[in-house]
Amino acid sequence: MILRPGQREQVLPLPVTLISTVSDDGTKNVAPWSNITPILRPLDEIVLASWIKRDTLENIRATGEFVVNIPPASMVEEVMICARNYPPEVDEFAEAGLAPRPSVKVRPPGVGGCLAWMECVLAEEIARENYSLVIGTVVHLETDDRCFNDAGEMDFERAEPLSVMLGREGMWFTRPVRSGRFARYAEMAAGRKG
Ligand SMILES: Cc1cc2nc3c(=O)[nH]c(=O)nc-3n(C[C@H](O)[C@H](O)[C@H](O)COP(=O)(O)O)c2cc1C
Repeated sequence: MILRPGQREQVLPLPVTLISTVSDDGTKNVAPWSNITPILRPLDEIVLASWIKRDTLENIRATGEFVVNIPPASMVEEVMICARNYPPEVDEFAEAGLAPRPSVKVRPPGVGGCLAWMECVLAEEIARENYSLVIGTVVHLETDDRCFNDAGEMDFERAEPLSVMLGREGMWFTRPVRSGRFARYAEMAAGRKG
């Protein structure tokens, strides 16, 4: 089956993050974001895609700062409240009943109750006609200790970071579970010459 352009977004599982920003006058904003990916390891930089008409993009341009919050699956209703199209003067923390969490290195607060908070400063914007790619430098990354196990690894089946599969008329929210296969990084080095 060949997918037409309008169907193509269905094939990739996507993360669900919440991006928090503040406007020039200090109004707090939160919006869900799925077109977002780390730029290789060790997560010094992150890139997100934004349609032009987004308060989030305006705020990042105005202040040069944003926080990428990782919500648990239990926060899905708040995520969908933040997805509504509020005017810029509306505080979306208040609308969704989310608690601001003071950030360490940037002005926008993080979202209380999330699993992790990546504080970012704007490094570069690549502007296209209808959208922009925003590259942020991660200046501080903190997690909720409760989602890490004794080995220092994220217990994602307990933490349940929210993800999503897009469909024709809506989206199914999902969460990661183990497939039964664990691969050591060393496997990737097998067969390498020299
Ligand atoms: C799960 C989910 C993921 C989203 N991902 C993006 C995205 O990657 N880029 C984008 O421009 N909008 C995305 N949106 C839409 C924005 O969250 C939505 O338009 C929101 O109202 C924007 O708020 P703002 O104008 O306060 O920035 C997403 C919405 C949902 C529900």
